[in-house]
Amino acid sequence: MADHLMATYNRLPVQFTKGEGIWLWDSEHRQYLDAISGIAVCGLGHAHPAVTQALCEQAATLVHTSNLYGITLQADLADRLCEISGMQRAFFCNSGAEANEAAIKIARLYGHGKDIACPAIIVMEQSFHGRTLATLTATGNRRIQAGFEPLVRGFIRVPYNDLDAIRTVASNNSDTVAVLVEPVQGEGGINVPDAGYLECIREICDANGWLMMLDEIQTGIGRTGQWFAWQHGSARPDVITLAKALGNGVPIGACLAHGAAAEVLQPGKHGTTFGGNPLACRAALAVLENITQEGLVVRAAELGQRMRSGFSAALGGQPGVTDIRGHGLMLGIELDRPCGELVGKALQCGLLINVTAERVVRLLPPLITTDKQADMIVAQVSDLIRDFLTG
Ligand SMILES: Cc1ncc(COP(=O)(O)O)c(C=O)c1O
Repeated sequence: MADHLMATYNRLPVQFTKGEGIWLWDSEHRQYLDAISGIAVCGLGHAHPAVTQALCEQAATLVHTSNLYGITLQADLADRLCEISGMQRAFFCNSGAEANEAAIKIARLYGHGKDIACPAIIVMEQSFHGRTLATLTATGNRRIQAGFEPLVRGFIRVPYNDLDAIRTVASNNSDTVAVLVEPVQGEGGINVPDAGYLECIREICDANGWLMMLDEIQTGIGRTGQWFAWQHGSARPDVITLAKALGNGVPIGACLAHGAAAEVLQPGKHGTTFGGNPLACRAALAVLENITQEGLVVRAAELGQRMRSGFSAALGGQPGVTDIRGHGLMLGIELDRPCGELVGKALQCGLLINVTAERVVRLLPPLITTDKQADMIVAQVSDLIRDFLTG
């Protein structure tokens, strides 16, 4: 059926034709509960009426003009994002990888501004930042890099959640200009760092004149129970990258910046044809408005707590379950063995889940999930895991 598609994905044998809220329907009219939200994208669920209406109106009015001209909706979206994030300027693009490319370019320009000829960015083991050449180099996973050498220069890798490793780089590498880090590692296995990690990175960055750059592509837009995960603490970053949930499925990415980082990109230094077009910005504005109106940021925190407690009660003593962790609605259940086959088993039961880092069941349910649906996910996933471990 897909003879003319490049073989980039091992797709599951299902095609969805319709969605509503947390539910999807396949071409045979079977119903599925979506506990992965298109990988942290559809925070408002599928076919959210307000987003649908905004898209229809905008599609009937103006879809695209390019960045040769002013775009009022883009300026409005920048205002709103800066208001909720504590940042000062926004650059809009079309994906997470592109948002990180913008951040990497900002760090390099910032370094060159300090007469550093070969600026270096500290990145983490097990991180994921995208599939472009620079972002796959920044990514801490050899399998994603293999075959694409030569990789991009200018990255220094350290273990996640290891502040001494960052301090060691500070002592030994005067070309360092920035740290790029996920507040919670998503693809890497829902790895939650120790409390105070980001605050200490902030201190190290301040002491060395580095930019602190947070990849909030998976954690942002309410998923962890704050608009942005850094807001659980006090360490405001210099750069935040966003994508995924910002458009609830309409492709849009953003690189937000504060202070000196907000001033480095000047005309001619960066750009994109589609980035921040009226359609995408209208969708993102509708997303932010509805998350606000429906109180979904607080709700994500409550639901995450409810689901983690549920999993602890159901699986806490289960041999083979090595950890239950998460932050808001980013949930991970780590097993003592590879468990990729659970994804297919869940699909057969009408449930969409994901396994990352080989042995971590990852759940990223929509922020609109009800208590009852949350409890259903916990019960079903716990049963699947128990059967898998004992069967
Ligand atoms: C933390 C993080 N950064 C970057 C990306 C890349 O985003 P995209 O696939 O939109 O390029 C992802 C995607 O999973 C991600 O989770």
